[in-house]
Amino acid sequence: MSALETIRSDLSDTTGTRFTIVLGDITGLSVDAIVNAANSSLLGGGGVDGAIHRAAGPELVAECRMLNGCKTGQAKITKGYRLPARHVIHTVGPVWNGGGNGEDELLAGCYRNSLGLAREHGLKSIAFPAISTGIYRFPALPAAEIATRIAVAESADGAFSEIIFCCFGDEMARLYDRLLPEALASA
Ligand code: APR
Repeated sequence: MSALETIRSDLSDTTGTRFTIVLGDITGLSVDAIVNAANSSLLGGGGVDGAIHRAAGPELVAECRMLNGCKTGQAKITKGYRLPARHVIHTVGPVWNGGGNGEDELLAGCYRNSLGLAREHGLKSIAFPAISTGIYRFPALPAAEIATRIAVAESADGAFSEIIFCCFGDEMARLYDRLLPEALASA
């Protein structure tokens, strides 16, 4: 999958933050930061992590080596190198282990801490993949509920111009298309 398709771009909150759903490869997005669903080593892997490292080039892993890893639910920032995105925010989602091991709160932490880091750096546009829903097996529905709820809550201070949810399949895009208006309505 390489072309990017905008699924929805008509949603915004009261502060003017636009919420967009796109379908395709996150490495093609020209934003202030794309978020990487990394592992705690921050040294690369498969899935979206592999795609980001391939597209950014070897300078990315060189910078990541100096970060001393990252704990689950936390986030760290690097430059974007050969990516069109200016920065990469690396966060480590929880491995799904049945749901009784703090997975929800750790995943919420990924979104909260990634947006917190973006805010600290003055970054206005940020794109997220569906963290933990691939190799880490977090079920798509609760993961998308957490992603949309935390993003809407964190944008309430008006710090961001655009928050993009980048979906890697039609089913995930349909899920966000349903949940995002609900999250905005109940904020
Ligand atoms: N662009 C956008 N989304 C993508 C891309 C891409 N290029 N590639 C995969 N995805 C989607 C997947 O379809 C899934 O919905 O990103 C979501 C997260 O999947 P994974 O990349 O498998 O990430 P995660 O489940 O958080 O597992 C993290 O995988 O690659 C390793 O190093 C990483 O060990 C870590 C683990």
